[in-house]
Amino acid sequence: MSEKSVLVTGACGEIGQALVQSLAKQGCRIVTADLAPLPETIKSLPAEHMQGDLVNRIKVFYDYDFDVIFHLAASLSSKAEVATEEAHRINVEGTMQLLLLAAYKSEKLKKAVKFLFPSSIAAYGFPDRETKHAAGVVKEDDWNSPHTMYGCNKLYCEKLGVYYSRFYGQRHLDPHPPTMLDFRAIRFPGLVSAFTVPSGGTSDYGPEMLHSAAAGKPYACFVDASTRISFMAMPDAIKSLLMLMDAPRECLTSQVYNIAAFSLTAGEFRQRALGAFPAAQVTFEPNPRRQGIVDSWPEDVDDSLARRDWGWQPDYDVERFFNEYFLPEIKKRYQKTSTRTIE
Ligand code: SER
Repeated sequence: MSEKSVLVTGACGEIGQALVQSLAKQGCRIVTADLAPLPETIKSLPAEHMQGDLVNRIKVFYDYDFDVIFHLAASLSSKAEVATEEAHRINVEGTMQLLLLAAYKSEKLKKAVKFLFPSSIAAYGFPDRETKHAAGVVKEDDWNSPHTMYGCNKLYCEKLGVYYSRFYGQRHLDPHPPTMLDFRAIRFPGLVSAFTVPSGGTSDYGPEMLHSAAAGKPYACFVDASTRISFMAMPDAIKSLLMLMDAPRECLTSQVYNIAAFSLTAGEFRQRALGAFPAAQVTFEPNPRRQGIVDSWPEDVDDSLARRDWGWQPDYDVERFFNEYFLPEIKKRYQKTSTRTIE
């Protein structure tokens, strides 16, 4: 069992709920933070919950000595685009406050606090669909010109994390440099959970379509059928965070890593949904703004750096994702509804 003391912000979100469950199994001492009260899925786990605005309540967290901080709280891409100032406050100011906390504690306790940051494919930005298609699979340093507030926030916070962990106050130039925090970021593709439904993001059409099909509800997809980005099963996302947390620092040649699992078009998602739920009603009604956002994101990402440095490998390719994770779980969840619909 682990004796690690861990903070998880955004604990009520999709990644948060799944991550807290895994950390609890490892026996970590967990503090959760979120604007909302903890949902049923994690409420009974041994975690101390801080409900409220992270930026306003940051002082409270100085009373703890965390070994690891998973800073998941964020305003996702579609939501951030309609409330840009609020998104900046949540995505940038919240991150900045926690980085300062981690930097302070690392220096004071002479032990590097690990700071795990979920970045995103939104950090990339293509000028148009043709360029996106021609680029295909992208590496971490390619096409870093995000079109969205969320993408700008994520890319900037990656830079802030690198700054506070390596150059903060130019401390690294001291003859005896202090201990700096240990910042590690993963650029996630669209994530799909069988247990939760996302909100506020733009990759949401994938999970929304599948959950609707399983529940027997009609779904109008807000991007067109040929739209392609990369996706990943939620258990793989959690696995990647835990792997990167445990990776020996000397093996890491970067502080920001792509990870990939499978890349699908929205039309292929529909085919899969129909294959499993023949009565599913999925239509395409592209929303120009949301279509534009997804068109600026890569079709797929090159995760060879993560594979080489910390042994990353997804458990779920597209076949295993549907057949061994998503469909068995979702059929249990929506059994009654889907049976009625198929009849
Ligand atoms: N899932 C995120 C979003 O759609 C992208 O990282 O905003």
